[in-house]
Amino acid sequence: MARTIIEPFRIKSVEPIRWTTRTQREQLLRAAHYNLFLLPADDVLIDLLTDSGTGAMSTHQWAAIMEGDESYAGSRSFDQFRESVQDIFGYQHVIPTHQGRAAERILFSVMCKKGDVVPNNTHFDTTRANVEFVGAEAVDLVIPEGRQPSSRHPFKGNMDVGALESLIDKVGRERVPLVMLTVTNNSGGGQPVSMENVKAVTAVCRRHSIPLYFDACRFAENSYFIKLREPNESYRSKSPKQIAQEMFSYGDGCTMSAKKDGMANIGGFLCTNNDSLAEQEKNLLILTEGYTTYGGLAGRDLEAIAVGVQEALHEDYLQYRIASTAYLGNHISEQGVPIVQPPGGHAVYIDARAFLPHIRAEHFPAVALANELYLQGGIRSVEIGTLMFGASAKMDLLRLAIPRRVYTQSHIDYVVEIILEVWQSREKIRGLNLTYEAPFLRHFTARLEPAEVAASARR
Ligand code: F0G
Repeated sequence: MARTIIEPFRIKSVEPIRWTTRTQREQLLRAAHYNLFLLPADDVLIDLLTDSGTGAMSTHQWAAIMEGDESYAGSRSFDQFRESVQDIFGYQHVIPTHQGRAAERILFSVMCKKGDVVPNNTHFDTTRANVEFVGAEAVDLVIPEGRQPSSRHPFKGNMDVGALESLIDKVGRERVPLVMLTVTNNSGGGQPVSMENVKAVTAVCRRHSIPLYFDACRFAENSYFIKLREPNESYRSKSPKQIAQEMFSYGDGCTMSAKKDGMANIGGFLCTNNDSLAEQEKNLLILTEGYTTYGGLAGRDLEAIAVGVQEALHEDYLQYRIASTAYLGNHISEQGVPIVQPPGGHAVYIDARAFLPHIRAEHFPAVALANELYLQGGIRSVEIGTLMFGASAKMDLLRLAIPRRVYTQSHIDYVVEIILEVWQSREKIRGLNLTYEAPFLRHFTARLEPAEVAASARR
């Protein structure tokens, strides 16, 4: 059998991408205040900013979109959506939302109050912000290996179960309204959580009667990693869907951004088994998102998600997905580029502190690297580090997120070439200073300037 893992699809519709010159990119970067979020997307050649909402939909999804029932209440599309979600996730109440953070806001508004503590393996930025917005404290309890980029632990997204126990003992059970597990652990390198760890966390939660919720964005990728890597070999013969069903059976609910493993361009949902919470959540949904059978989405979006969550679990797709991300990670790391090992499911994370040891964290090494990849090759990536999380950031990572079913192997070969060129001339890269920041989630709108410019302007 041939060993090359090919894209398990053919391309029916294409979207041109646009070249720019280096001089143009220098001007564009200056105009964007050295923050790639502020660039017009048309001026990006290969966009690896995020895997969120940027995937290509299948013919089945587009066909389902035509079946969209746009009725305000009781839409047939909602029934399709709920049945498909329940088939995989198994929770009693399925509440549609316009994206993941809306599900987070509703969940934390209903379950948390000021002074509460929410443990997670690692909160993603919006999750942390939504916990903090209701006055609660977001605590990250990933295992120590999860904070060491070069460690090759197979499940670096696991929660430190001992640390969870100690935290509950320290703050008291009544201050911990829920525990969350993010699968896969996005802020920690797209690393999976093992089934063994899910069970161990559930056991602690059950003992203290604390509900366990999943941040399920990349549940399909996490399920496939369990199939490949779980120490218990019985998972090798299970389908990703069976694994996902088992994993969710250990929880009490979830938040989900369907823009990731929902294979859709927009959408999300909140699930729970708790009737009284569901009632409060639905009331809040009606107030701010929309009626309970659409939650801010069009009927056609619900149809696309209903098909998408199932497609994300197809084994040929997942094999290609995980292999193509590893292809990028392995090709750059073989040449010495320091990455979070092993490569994650949806993204490769470059360790920018190791790539640019001459740039201190307060000068944002991962932002400097992102800007250089744009200048050199028109590639857009994103910082997950000091700009995103402030001085508390444990690592400065540059994430190259791969949109689902969008780029081919030759696009990725090009990305590898550009990264290796930048690696060769890394000593020349300079850090940045912040000139504007918003009160929260500052990385989206921050303005920066090259560090030397700041220094010479002061002279
Ligand atoms: N949780 C995780 C783990 C995420 O990665 C994201 C989004 C969210 C929640 C929020 O979902 O965007 O639909 O509101 N992550 C995107 C990213 C934005 O680029 O990683 P959302």
